[in-house]
Amino acid sequence: MVHGRKILLGVTGSIAAFKAVFLARELIRRGAEVRVVMTAAATEFVGPLTFATLTGHRVYSDFTEDADQGTWTNHVDLGLWADLFVVAPATAETLSAFSTGRCTNFLHAVFLSSRCEVMVAPAMDLDMFSHAATQANLHLLRERGISVVEPVSGPLASGLEGKGRMEEPGAIADAVEGYFESRAPLRGLRVLITAGPTHEPIDAVRFIGNRSSGKMGVALAQAFIDQGAQVSLLLGPATVAPPVGCEEVVRFETAAELAAAVAERWGQMDVGIAAAAVADVRPAAPATNKLHRADLPPAIVLEPTPDVLAYMGQHKAGHQKLIGFALETDEGRASAASKLERKNLDGIVLNTLLDDGAGFQTDTNKVSTFDGRDWHTFELKSKAEVARDLVNFIQHL
Ligand SMILES: Cc1cc2nc3c(=O)[nH]c(=O)nc-3n(C[C@H](O)[C@H](O)[C@H](O)COP(=O)(O)O)c2cc1C
Repeated sequence: MVHGRKILLGVTGSIAAFKAVFLARELIRRGAEVRVVMTAAATEFVGPLTFATLTGHRVYSDFTEDADQGTWTNHVDLGLWADLFVVAPATAETLSAFSTGRCTNFLHAVFLSSRCEVMVAPAMDLDMFSHAATQANLHLLRERGISVVEPVSGPLASGLEGKGRMEEPGAIADAVEGYFESRAPLRGLRVLITAGPTHEPIDAVRFIGNRSSGKMGVALAQAFIDQGAQVSLLLGPATVAPPVGCEEVVRFETAAELAAAVAERWGQMDVGIAAAAVADVRPAAPATNKLHRADLPPAIVLEPTPDVLAYMGQHKAGHQKLIGFALETDEGRASAASKLERKNLDGIVLNTLLDDGAGFQTDTNKVSTFDGRDWHTFELKSKAEVARDLVNFIQHL
């Protein structure tokens, strides 16, 4: 859930600042883009170069970059950039500034400018933490919707022992993950997506294939993952990389292999999206060795492949939704509507090669959707944007 998220990490002047280095690294490992804001006190504990090197971005700690040149750092932009602002460690001083709205350093200004949610991980000595002033500040911040990752008990830098140690970086990263998960509208939805072409062997080296690139199915998988769904991606012989965050990625070559993978999983799914371009026929008797030119037959006898989409439609339970794709070379609505009926689909996505930039191989697509009653035609868009439109369409189903 953290993959691709923009996380602003605020580091303040606590001895626990060194743990923020591990937190930044862990968030990056989980796929987040991390930028760091440090208070002046924090830079006494850890060098900004450490964060700059880890994140690949400059560290922000001042309003001015080069005062002589009149350049300044835009705290508003940074606040708007983030999907989540995590302040770890958060000192007593910073919590106090956050609760009163004091704005005496760059981090405070970013806090006041940010529209994203804020998470704080306090770190301080036990008496500072239990002090009525700190507790009142935390209470107010919670009331305003700020999440607090509670400190834990243990030995403190002062030599005392008690509650005040900042939570470990892994646990804070889990809290960040939990934050995005809890706001993911499709959390718990199990989605089966088929993508890419099939290769039906003629002999050991030749096959009958098609021009599907798998890009649309992979973009759909990404869009569903971004909304918190559990995606099983069945991906044919395509060069496109599957997205990070799939529950599982199963590779297939032939329609028969795809049919077996679908049969094993369809019963446990809530939604099925058949974006793969599956061969309708295959060579009836493929050679196991490579046929030399002289041995190649003048004609190849073909036989039907298993109809994967029909199988899914026939075995569809009441709660399941099934969406198919139709690629046509003409206007296509009549045949797409007929496919929806014949295959027992809940929705169908039509793309026609009459539209420039639509269909196989391209990074764009222009689709129309049909839910059995109404057609809706979208503009030409990137496949990532089309995928988001299709997630909305499927949610509406
Ligand atoms: C060695 C040392 C360790 C400190 N550790 C903490 C701490 O863990 N928590 C805290 O709230 N303040 C701690 N302080 C005090 C803060 O650094 C001080 O209040 C500072 O003004 C915080 O500013 P900032 O919140 O803008 O970073 C520590 C100070 C020193 C010198």
